[in-house]
Amino acid sequence: MTVHFIGAGPGAPDLITVRGRDLIARCPVCLYAGSLVPREMLQWCPADARVVDTAPMSLDDIVAEIERAHAEGLDVARLHSGDLSIWSALAEQTRRLAKLGIPFDVTPGVPAFAAAAAALQRELTLPEVAQSVVLTRTSGRASAMPERETLAAFAATGATLAIHLSIHAIDRVVAELAPILGPDCPVAVVFRATWPEERILEATLATIEARLAEAPIERTALIFVGRALAAQDFRDSALYDADYLRRFRPRRA
Ligand SMILES: C[S@@+](CC[C@H](N)C(=O)[O-])C[C@H]1O[C@@H](n2cnc3c(N)ncnc32)[C@H](O)[C@@H]1O
Repeated sequence: MTVHFIGAGPGAPDLITVRGRDLIARCPVCLYAGSLVPREMLQWCPADARVVDTAPMSLDDIVAEIERAHAEGLDVARLHSGDLSIWSALAEQTRRLAKLGIPFDVTPGVPAFAAAAAALQRELTLPEVAQSVVLTRTSGRASAMPERETLAAFAATGATLAIHLSIHAIDRVVAELAPILGPDCPVAVVFRATWPEERILEATLATIEARLAEAPIERTALIFVGRALAAQDFRDSALYDADYLRRFRPRRA
């Protein structure tokens, strides 16, 4: 018996991996995080599968469901939105499972920031403009940020910021970033990337709040901030440079 943690991707059902879909189809128990995992994926469960929405459940309740499946020798597909490496509650579940001696594995998924960048048709790293992407958030009711992980500190590096779980705090984001990045710094907000209701707003730190006031977005949005979002005069990368090709990829005889 194994608990298969599966990244379900950003929303569109065809953006789960083939491995993830096949595991769902094989597992007699499916636990899914109901708020962001699309219902269409549950159609791949076996007809007689036990399918449980964990959104209203506590960690104790979820572990109890898994222990029950373990006692019955039933594999579990455990679905979380996006990828499991960020804001998925994977760590607290696997810590419990390790203590209980219940085997598990992890299948990656398309993270929301990648889906949102695709919706924008943008690359977040551009030569000499930004070569890092910071996946971050602001403090929430349930989770304070570690003291040194401030937006201001990340912004000072010039990296492209991908700010999660923070659309409700856009005023704080702007207040913290504008003094460092300048009011003309580009901002893009992507609401529910890859869902039918996907929406994109492009603005600057000076204008984004007014744009959002006209068309409010309250949750499930990515906020990108950084010069790479609008740069046009960046140099080409070395990857396809003719000279680089000659020196490092000599033609085979
Ligand atoms: C609890 S985190 C989950 C992140 C997820 N594990 C991932 O890999 O992207 C939820 C936050 O991710 C972002 N998010 C998740 N799905 C999204 C989507 N389809 N479009 C835009 N942002 C999304 C939002 O910032 C949302 O508040």
